[in-house]
Amino acid sequence: MLFPNPGRDKVDSLPRTARFRYYAGGLTLAILATGHLIPGRIVHVPLAILAVLAVYVFGPLRTEHEYYVEAARHGCKPTARVLKQNALLQNRRDTLEATGHTYAHGVFPESTPCITTDEPENVKAVLSTRFEDWVLPGIRIKSFLPVLGKLVVVVVVVVVVVVVVVVVVVPHTDSIFTTNGAEWQHSRAILRPAFVRDQISDLACVDQHVAKLIAHIRKALADDGRAILDLQVLFSMMTTDSISDFMFGQSTDLQGSAPQDSYKFGKYFDESMQKIAWRARLGWLTLLRSDPELDEYSSFMRAFVKRFVSNVRESPETNSHRGEKGKYVFLDELLKSGESDEVICDHLLSIFTAGRDTTTSVLSYLFFELSRRPDIVATVRDEIRDLGRDDPTWEDLRNMRYLNWVLKEALRLNPPVASNQREAVRDTILPTGGGADGKSPVFVTKGTSLRYIPWVIHRRKDLFGEDAEEFRPERWEDLRVTYEYLPFNAARASASGNNSH
Ligand code: HEM
Repeated sequence: MLFPNPGRDKVDSLPRTARFRYYAGGLTLAILATGHLIPGRIVHVPLAILAVLAVYVFGPLRTEHEYYVEAARHGCKPTARVLKQNALLQNRRDTLEATGHTYAHGVFPESTPCITTDEPENVKAVLSTRFEDWVLPGIRIKSFLPVLGKLVVVVVVVVVVVVVVVVVVVPHTDSIFTTNGAEWQHSRAILRPAFVRDQISDLACVDQHVAKLIAHIRKALADDGRAILDLQVLFSMMTTDSISDFMFGQSTDLQGSAPQDSYKFGKYFDESMQKIAWRARLGWLTLLRSDPELDEYSSFMRAFVKRFVSNVRESPETNSHRGEKGKYVFLDELLKSGESDEVICDHLLSIFTAGRDTTTSVLSYLFFELSRRPDIVATVRDEIRDLGRDDPTWEDLRNMRYLNWVLKEALRLNPPVASNQREAVRDTILPTGGGADGKSPVFVTKGTSLRYIPWVIHRRKDLFGEDAEEFRPERWEDLRVTYEYLPFNAARASASGNNSH
């Protein structure tokens, strides 16, 4: 983007600067077009190149100028501009503090503008009051497609002089994470019945995998007397086992006697997620390089999941038998939707993606905090002891006040989805973040990305108190939150009507 003015103090001059650039750019273009800038034949070729470049630069200048004209028409004011901030969470937080909670910037290599905010009012607009104006960003969909999508054949009819029918193979997905609008509504409708609270709250399935985790830790400590364990790796195996069990009806059993395929699935899944993160960062540049490794991982994972689907389809008696034994299997419920195996696979892989790393992440951070706070561990232990039994029900867990505060606090300080993004599908308005004081509405053009950062919002001292950086579960005793607390997002998840959270 062409806005080299960081900070709020420059906000008022932005429309004037844009107008100046627009007219100056237009004048330069006109002079170049008439060929009078540098006389003489010899310069015609460089001049032509210069003219092409000028046209390329003039486009964004005009867009910038038009933006301010349109924004003024809506009574909006520009927000602070920050150039070339390629920062992680803490740097973004510093920039948000310096610019007053909302700023605009560019994100290499994309040409579309981006706004970053830690303002709950803006998040509310995106996830609720102006929900229809925002969708999942195209870049997220493109990055996930190789893993959560399948290849489909599309027939394209091209009319040039004669009619030509071209058959192309493109990736397509039905996953709830990579669809918008009607397709998203459809996924939601399919998934909703499978997320029935009193069924997914059957704790027996999770219990056996947690028991294995504890046995594993005990054994590792006893075997070589180690005092230090990498819990994150163990949590990751445990969540893979429990989510696969819940979803496919059969655990990957990484903590037990896992077959080779299960290990491969876990490994490929991890590596695919890393590659997806890179793809998201590289934007359209990923188009320049194919990734056969990712394709290989993806087809292996699809085949792995598809096997479970085919097994259940081919022997429904096993399926009903599972139901009789009282084991709730997500796949069984999905099959009732009548969708094809391919679509079911999309859903299984996407829910697996949704549930595995988020759960691993929150457990890892929770134990990181607990390892430094024996006082909190002691209070949790007291609450467990007061319960008076070893096998708590779902209701018991819900009613354990202190334990719930501890979990909420872990999700506040380190939300697994630390940063999130949406893209405007039409011109729209953010309620706040514009003008010299950062309080005016901001006009947002179609195609703009909005990045909101729960990690930063959750640490704002004006929202959570001077001790916002501290792990203090007791704060939840009288804390009431809306859009300033977003570990599970807001409207999209709850609007989906599913009980996944
Ligand atoms: C502590 C663990 C978890 C956290 C922090 C978490 C967080 C989130 C967030 C922030 C979103 C919104 C993503 C977006 O729209 O940009 C989301 C969506 C979703 N999550 Fe989770 N999640 C967790 C666990 C799970 C689990 C275990 C499952 C299922 C097994 C699950 C299923 C879903 C589904 C289906 C959606 C899509 C909802 C929709 O678009 O309507 N999540 N999750």
